[in-house]
Amino acid sequence: MTRMQTRRLIVRLAQLLAAAVVTQFAQAAPVTAARIIAADKEPQNWLAHGRTYGEQRYSPLAQINEANVGQLGLAWSYATGTTRGLQATPIVVDGRLYATGVWSVVYALDARTGKQLWRYDPDVPRAWGRYACCDAVNRGVALWGDALFVGTLDGRLVSLDAKTGQKRWEVNTIDRTKPYTITGAPRVVKGKVLIGNGGGEYGVRGYFSAYDARTGKLAWRFYTVPGNPKDGFETPELEKAAKTWNGEWWLGGGGGTVWDSMAYDPELDTLYVGTGNGSPWARAIRSPGGGDNLFLSSILALDPDNGELKWHYQVTPADNWDYTATQHIVLADLHFDGKPRKVLMQAPKNGFFYVLDRVSGELLAADKYIPATWASHVDLQTGRPVETADGDWSHETRLIIPAPFGGHNWHPMAYNPNTGLVYIPAMQPMGIYTPSREYLTTGKFTRREMFWNPGVDWNEYTKSIYGLLQQFQGSLPPDRGYLKAWDPVARRTRWEIEHPAFWNGGLLTTAGNLLFQGTGDGRFVAYAADTGRTLWSVPTMVGIVAPPVTYAIDGEQYVAVLAGYGGAGAVTGGDPRTMASGKYLNDGHILAFKLGGNAAMPRIAERNQDIPEPPAIEAAAAQVENGKYAYTANCMVCHGALAVSGGVTPDLRRLSSERHSIFKQIVYDGVIHTAGMPRMADLVSEQDVHDIQAYLVQRAREDRAAGQKVAPARKP
Ligand code: HEC
Repeated sequence: MTRMQTRRLIVRLAQLLAAAVVTQFAQAAPVTAARIIAADKEPQNWLAHGRTYGEQRYSPLAQINEANVGQLGLAWSYATGTTRGLQATPIVVDGRLYATGVWSVVYALDARTGKQLWRYDPDVPRAWGRYACCDAVNRGVALWGDALFVGTLDGRLVSLDAKTGQKRWEVNTIDRTKPYTITGAPRVVKGKVLIGNGGGEYGVRGYFSAYDARTGKLAWRFYTVPGNPKDGFETPELEKAAKTWNGEWWLGGGGGTVWDSMAYDPELDTLYVGTGNGSPWARAIRSPGGGDNLFLSSILALDPDNGELKWHYQVTPADNWDYTATQHIVLADLHFDGKPRKVLMQAPKNGFFYVLDRVSGELLAADKYIPATWASHVDLQTGRPVETADGDWSHETRLIIPAPFGGHNWHPMAYNPNTGLVYIPAMQPMGIYTPSREYLTTGKFTRREMFWNPGVDWNEYTKSIYGLLQQFQGSLPPDRGYLKAWDPVARRTRWEIEHPAFWNGGLLTTAGNLLFQGTGDGRFVAYAADTGRTLWSVPTMVGIVAPPVTYAIDGEQYVAVLAGYGGAGAVTGGDPRTMASGKYLNDGHILAFKLGGNAAMPRIAERNQDIPEPPAIEAAAAQVENGKYAYTANCMVCHGALAVSGGVTPDLRRLSSERHSIFKQIVYDGVIHTAGMPRMADLVSEQDVHDIQAYLVQRAREDRAAGQKVAPARKP
């Protein structure tokens, strides 16, 4: 060997060693504010929930691009062993990938091979699933220093050693006598872990909190709606907000839960947070006598050091439709009306796309991104929506677009600064809103404790759904799902693609002029970000709702996504004929793709769709009728309308004879509560349970007779 060759060999060995060290994560540098702020300097990592604090979900990586994306193949897959919804955005740093799954379990994987490094199970009591409207899901971890943070479905915030998965601290963030949940990903700003919660359908008061990342000590808490004035107000803002409420709103909790969106602008040192719907939905019940009900369905701008409010904008004053503003918030710098503006963009559930000046909170634009029927337009002078007569369901049942699923739900959007487009996983669901007969006739509303409680009339709802079935000859008009490219400056849709299922995945866009999305019908697709042309697609057999991420290891780019259908649009609604989970088992996987990847896609088995002959249950017609109503009020939220499951929870038309024989023990006594089927004895009588079973038997018979025809299900 020449000296030159020897030198080269030594250099090569040193390089290999360095690479090995990086791969073994021995020297993984702590994640700091400076690193997240300068995230574009290390595009190989995905350090924070939306990659950057501005949450654009745009990656500068361009090795995979529109010219070569056709060569994308599976690099590795990891089976989570779950069959419910996977919604997490993975965090990737220095070769490690961290994701969360069903029941708030955390996975740490080698991002190059998918090999499990550790797995942490916070042991969420499965009975807590009863307080989760929308599946036992979790949207991911946050990373700060060398610690990970995860919120658990039962309201705890846990800090883990990122290297080992060992627990460092754990705090309880909720009143444990109330049906709060956490499904959202924490964010970390200036050493404080920010976390909100869910429960708006169950009668809780919304708030979010900041905890010291090192110690877990509570730094501050911001309540989004006022409590009982007798107890005093926590802040001056709440005292003012209370003037926008009437009656005894605190008895129903009020709502305004902060269950998902947050963004941060380090330059303005401002935290942006989206708040949830009213609890209950019906504003007449919630706040008789009217009022805007601040800070429901609002975007809040706060000081991250102390939670002081800088400004707010309420997207749906006096929310009456479950129109949350918890949808993904994107920060960007745009030329708007010819002027450079620092903007905040959101497509909340209510169907309007909002552009706000994020310095002042000034409304710049609000335009329909779907044909919403509850309001004609937003008055840019007053900043208020102009409601339509069609949207008023205070006296009679109305069909309104969008349904409580929203024109867009939690599935993150993405903004590509090169195309100037915001990509929205948009929906056009129709909702059946039925005013409470009890409230209309008596002025009172009987709240159910610790359960789904939107203030609607379930009997009327059930009648409406059967009425619609008759009107449309056995099949309800479909909810529709789109990928929409929205131009926030021209204020219109540039292009759109309609998907088979209405409930699809979040988005990722890259400097390679690419846009990635998973679909409810079980595909993972790459589009050209500028034109929307489909460039590549792979069948996953498992429906996708999670947003993809991209990262690189040793210069090789990967795109990863969680596959596992779930969430409200899968458990309560959706037409199983359009969803992968209607046909295949919903086996959860984390999938990572790279150019030339040649690993085999996981094999997913087909679901047995037979409806077995049900047992004979003695019941008079009136009992079956009672069972039908009791089913809608108590079971539909998890098992689907008309007892048609979307495949995430069991289809109750397909119960085995063994399950039928212990039906009362399951439903009334809760014998399988550890599997996630809650005990319901406080909500239904033994007679109701009998009648529900009789109704399910009838449904099974009907659909057997109709040759297994599956009627589409939907949420009100
Ligand atoms: C909070 C969600 C939720 C609600 C509400 C709910 N269920 Fe369930 N149920 C589940 C889940 C999840 C399972 C599956 C548990 C498992 O994996 O074995 C289940 C399982 C069942 C099973 C057993 C199915 C089988 O084949 O093993 C029956 C029967 C059942 N539910 C009936 C009902 C009835 C009747 C109601 C209403 C009175 C109801 N459930 C309300 C979530 C729910």
